Amino acid sequence: MMIQPTKQPVQDFDGDAIIVGAYTDCLAPTAEQLDPAISGSIERLKAAGEITGKRYETTRILAPAGVPTIEVVVVGLGKKDELCAETVYGAAATAAKLVAGKKRKKVGFFLDDFWPKDLSEQAIAGLCVGMQGQDLYRKEKALTTPEEIYWYGVDEETIEKGAAYGNAINLTRNLVNRPAADMYPATFAEEASVVAEDYNLSIEVWDKKKLEEERCGSLLAVSQASSRDPRLVIIRYSGGKLGESPLALVGKGVTFDSGGLSLKPSDGMKTMKCDMAGAATVLGAIKAIAALQLPINVVALVGLVENMVSGNSYKLGDVLTARSGKTIEVLNTDAEGRLVLADVLNVALEEKPTRIIDLATLTGACVVALGLDVAGLMTNDEPLQEMIFEAAKRMGEPMWPLPMYAEFGDQIKSQVADIKNIGEGRWGGAITAAKFLEEFVEGTAWTHIDIAGPAFLEKAKPWMDGGASGFGVRTLVEVVKTLCK
Ligand code: BES
Ligand code: ZN
Ligand code: ZN
Repeated sequence: MMIQPTKQPVQDFDGDAIIVGAYTDCLAPTAEQLDPAISGSIERLKAAGEITGKRYETTRILAPAGVPTIEVVVVGLGKKDELCAETVYGAAATAAKLVAGKKRKKVGFFLDDFWPKDLSEQAIAGLCVGMQGQDLYRKEKALTTPEEIYWYGVDEETIEKGAAYGNAINLTRNLVNRPAADMYPATFAEEASVVAEDYNLSIEVWDKKKLEEERCGSLLAVSQASSRDPRLVIIRYSGGKLGESPLALVGKGVTFDSGGLSLKPSDGMKTMKCDMAGAATVLGAIKAIAALQLPINVVALVGLVENMVSGNSYKLGDVLTARSGKTIEVLNTDAEGRLVLADVLNVALEEKPTRIIDLATLTGACVVALGLDVAGLMTNDEPLQEMIFEAAKRMGEPMWPLPMYAEFGDQIKSQVADIKNIGEGRWGGAITAAKFLEEFVEGTAWTHIDIAGPAFLEKAKPWMDGGASGFGVRTLVEVVKTLCK
């Protein structure tokens, strides 16, 4: 997606769509400037209560003859003194999605003329996301990117940074949206290599043989029924000082979760191509972090497997030996994400990270607890969780902490092994899963983000097509920026 800066006065812009902003308390100056050229339509609609400036409200005005544009889109930005990253991202995305619904050649975004650079970056990220749909395999796309896109009142650098976010989020979405026939451990690892190559990052791809040598018995058990071999990918970005301990980002990459022998019903299985969203989010985040050249060392680790059924399936009652040496009794093969992460977290410890953040579409229980839009936060380190919570709030990616009381840990005690892979009954299932993960971080400051709800939208939102959402990428980058301060 090519976006160019423009300083041209809005009324002279000769594209076929112009987007301007409206607050609840006033119009953006660009809207005011444009208005006389379209016979005062904006003011008139505002006076009539058609345009209210409410967040994400869009009003389409077809321009009269004699005006160089075809349409003007007025997008609501909420209260002016409450303008924030969340709003500009969502508003730009909403307008972008609307405009991309028609084939347009040249489009100009003149949302406002005073925004600080970091807000403009987020808005530009929103533009990129709003224009991309999930119809990767459809001949006639629902959304088409205009050939020329202009953004008013910013420099090249701001556009580059905004696009760095946007492209990273779209990478995440693309990987998640691709079905399991196309996106499996080996192809995901190839996509990771492309990112590593593009930004000159060091990468290690562990194949099945290496995983065996490394005694990743827990991860390997999950993958053993599949004809697709597993991978573990490690990518290192060194923007910080030489030898400084990195932040570790860990992702669940189950490229398809059938449930295994504890087979999912059709309804629960139909979106399970999304079960590698944690891994895709981590890859998107490190791509953005590298593109933005943030001064920090980050290592991303993703465990990639397919959870399938065959004569070689891992079974209920099996006892696995994880890489850490802990033994795990398997009582449900659908609780596979924690088994994969157990080994990936153990590998992460070898990087001597200061902190670990893992992302995973880990439990349906988290969706029951918090709904489809909110991710669960679980931690052994309150300050780290708080940092993530605040970053998520600034980015408008809602997250909420769940309590890690010891009682939940008691639930994963096993009669035959060190631990078992499910709790007692289904209550508090998001937390018993997190308690299981905690067993593998050996006291390192760690926060787990369960994104089972928000990673995948069953229905489109005004600002985003349905399917993968890219949820979490912006928060991770924001956390990294906080750590850099
Ligand atoms: N991948 C699923 C969790 C999930 C559910 C992600 C819905 C996205 C949307 C996970 O592997 C799983 O199946 N978890 C089980 C755990 C249970 C067997 C303890 C669950 O949540 O039912
Ligand atoms: Zn599962
Ligand atoms: Zn799963």
